[in-house]
Amino acid sequence: MRIVKTINELNSLINEIKSESKTIGFVPTMGALHNGHLTLVRQCAAENDVCVVSIFVNPTQFNNKTDLEKYPRNLEKDAEMLETAGCACVFAPSADDFYSADELNNTFDFDFGGMDKVMEGKFRPGHFNGVVQVVSKLFSLVQPDKAYFGKKDFQQLAIIHRMVRLMNFKIDIIDCPIVREASGLAMSSRNERLSAAEREIAVNISRILNESRKLLPEKTPAELICWVTDEVNAISGLEVEYFEIADPVTLTTIDTWLPKSIGCIAVYCGDVRLIDNIEYCL
Ligand code: PAJ
Repeated sequence: MRIVKTINELNSLINEIKSESKTIGFVPTMGALHNGHLTLVRQCAAENDVCVVSIFVNPTQFNNKTDLEKYPRNLEKDAEMLETAGCACVFAPSADDFYSADELNNTFDFDFGGMDKVMEGKFRPGHFNGVVQVVSKLFSLVQPDKAYFGKKDFQQLAIIHRMVRLMNFKIDIIDCPIVREASGLAMSSRNERLSAAEREIAVNISRILNESRKLLPEKTPAELICWVTDEVNAISGLEVEYFEIADPVTLTTIDTWLPKSIGCIAVYCGDVRLIDNIEYCL
């Protein structure tokens, strides 16, 4: 496995791969890898000649400086895990090498059609601007045939689909299922910050989301939002930041059920903010 740290090195590596007419699969990450990430990497390695993974804690998608500073970084450990999962190349640039001073000022302009103003976007202003900025630049550099994203970050994935349509990237975006712990808790780098007791409490999030499926179609989306919010808030130690039910493509909230709808939730468990989501099918 090769580890490249500069755009120049990456460019030569990609030229080499392209000259051999090999297909490239790509998994963008911010490191602090867990089995959720590695599942994407294994699928990517199985479906492409070469699997490229980026590890870059992108400063332009953090609206909170402390959050950015506190983000766990451990390239050595991540690299070991990636090698075992079948990754051929890790791209791990520094912010200074990756962005010019202009780009760091985050004036990236993208038409989100309102998708960045709901759910996560409401609570993390500017976040998706930074995500689209980094992913579009990574796509241009890595030039993958396929790129793999987790449904864990459902809104991010919906926005990436829009970006690929609007910017005409010739890249297949592969939606990967949420990887969960045996308890049902969605895997996340943030789970490391939960105490043993909090971990047990956090399990209720996916349990309640699963139970809510049984209430369809009798309850309307608005009624189901109240039901889920009340059930989660009734658990001591959990506090809902938002729960919304939306069209999975446009992310606009719905009054009546679609054949497929998406419910997205953000919950504080102590001071750890967790997100999860569930697909509702009629
Ligand atoms: P990061 O949080 O490191 O996640 C990298 C990828 O792993 C994302 O596509 C995310 O949805 C996926 N992932 C994380 N946990 C998962 C789980 N439990 N099951 C399935 N997939 C999971 O998302 C980002 O980084 C950044 O915003 C990035 C796209 C890299 C841009 O900076």
